[in-house]
Amino acid sequence: MFNSSDLAGQFDSGQEIYISFQYLTRDIEIDINSLLVKVLSRFDMGYMYDIFESVFRELIQNALKANMKRVWFEKLGLAIENEDDYLKGMARFRNVAYHPELLRENLVSSRYRVVIKMRRTKGGFHVDIINNARIVPGELRRLNNRIHKAFDCFNFTEAYENMYDATEGAGLGIILSVMLLKNSGMDTNGFRISPEDDSVRVSLDVPSEMKSVEITSVIKARIIEEVESLPTIPENIVALRLLCNDPDSTIEMISDRISRDLSVTADVLKLANSAGFITGKRIRKINDAVIIIGMKNLDLILAAAASRRILESRYSRFEQVWEHCSRTAYFARCIALEKGYPKIAEGAFIAGLLHDIGKIVLLSTDASLVDQISRLVKNRRIKTTAILEELSIGISHATIGALIAEKWNFPEELVEAIRHHHSPLNPGIKNRDLVMTVYLANHMCDRESRHADLPFLESEVLEKFGIADREEYEAFCRKLEGTYARQQRFT
Ligand SMILES: [Fe+2]
Ligand SMILES: [Fe+2]
Repeated sequence: MFNSSDLAGQFDSGQEIYISFQYLTRDIEIDINSLLVKVLSRFDMGYMYDIFESVFRELIQNALKANMKRVWFEKLGLAIENEDDYLKGMARFRNVAYHPELLRENLVSSRYRVVIKMRRTKGGFHVDIINNARIVPGELRRLNNRIHKAFDCFNFTEAYENMYDATEGAGLGIILSVMLLKNSGMDTNGFRISPEDDSVRVSLDVPSEMKSVEITSVIKARIIEEVESLPTIPENIVALRLLCNDPDSTIEMISDRISRDLSVTADVLKLANSAGFITGKRIRKINDAVIIIGMKNLDLILAAAASRRILESRYSRFEQVWEHCSRTAYFARCIALEKGYPKIAEGAFIAGLLHDIGKIVLLSTDASLVDQISRLVKNRRIKTTAILEELSIGISHATIGALIAEKWNFPEELVEAIRHHHSPLNPGIKNRDLVMTVYLANHMCDRESRHADLPFLESEVLEKFGIADREEYEAFCRKLEGTYARQQRFT
């Protein structure tokens, strides 16, 4: 463990930062990430955090994996330099590769380590990620091959298909890192792998001004077209939403207006009574609903109800996403209520309900790509699908959702929660309470489908909600899962 503030201080004074470890614990990972936040902030590059966090993780994993391989070969009594032995060892290494904990003891007592160095340069900063195992010629060939191909490939899925290598696992870490850096505007010289006598050094020269390359894909064009062709929110709902935002409106005026439209009445009552929106007794009259919900929340409910009607009638994949959204909505409201943000509880519910509307459109445009991406995210322990969507399609479901929300004139905080539900640390966020609540709720819902041993959760978010550690987080998840299941039985 190290202190990221001390290291950032060293970085500022022009010294080189030096971090060394043999086995990567969650704590070291958190420290590295918080150091990264600090270093990037020195260059006003906070917006690059998601990218660098992924790149660092992939490169560190890669270095660690090379060390694990050595430890593994030594354990089996095989010579890694010998081609026959190499094939023999690798055939059994694949199962171990994704479970570093199996080799933890061996790693810690070995001579192998991973070293990270970082220093300021004239135009930005320099990073070295080094592991002290000599690379075998075959490994180096494969590695260089991957890097070159990745720089040539147009998008991530294309690179992935070109480079699948059954012996080494997919070797995706390097490809992913190169693609992320390349699309962020880094040129080929900025990323180097240098084999040295007894080690391998991966170096990054990060310029302080990076300009991202816009990825244009056929699917992206189809998605944008689809969003543009979505119907607008019906006139009566627009008028009602204006009334909700007019300080001269009265509850009677609004209730009267809603009751004239049977389907809107049904929608409002249904949402107001849905699991966990407003607790207490069932609301049967629209007048009561408006009083209990309040005008600001009614505006949100109307937005949600209209979106649901449009999306449900248009997309066959609607249900698949909506189930997850209803659960996220419930969790978001509970988080806000129980963790100190009661004022945003209803807003969090609606934001949770709508956070993945972009995914509905994306799924309906290319379901097989979405499936491929979510498989990769799960297997590679990539933090979110949004990053891979950006790389392969050029737009993430979060951005698609925000485009739809803007088109439908959703309140600003709702647009922001949809846009950043996978990037809650983005420096430009104004309504961070709401964004973080939806982010956490979504993470809690995804928990079961992820690798259980590594919850990729931003530690800042846990801190914000006063969740001390993983046990407390798991317990909170189980509690909400239980109350949600009970709620569902009664609605
Ligand atoms: Fe999402
Ligand atoms: Fe989600």
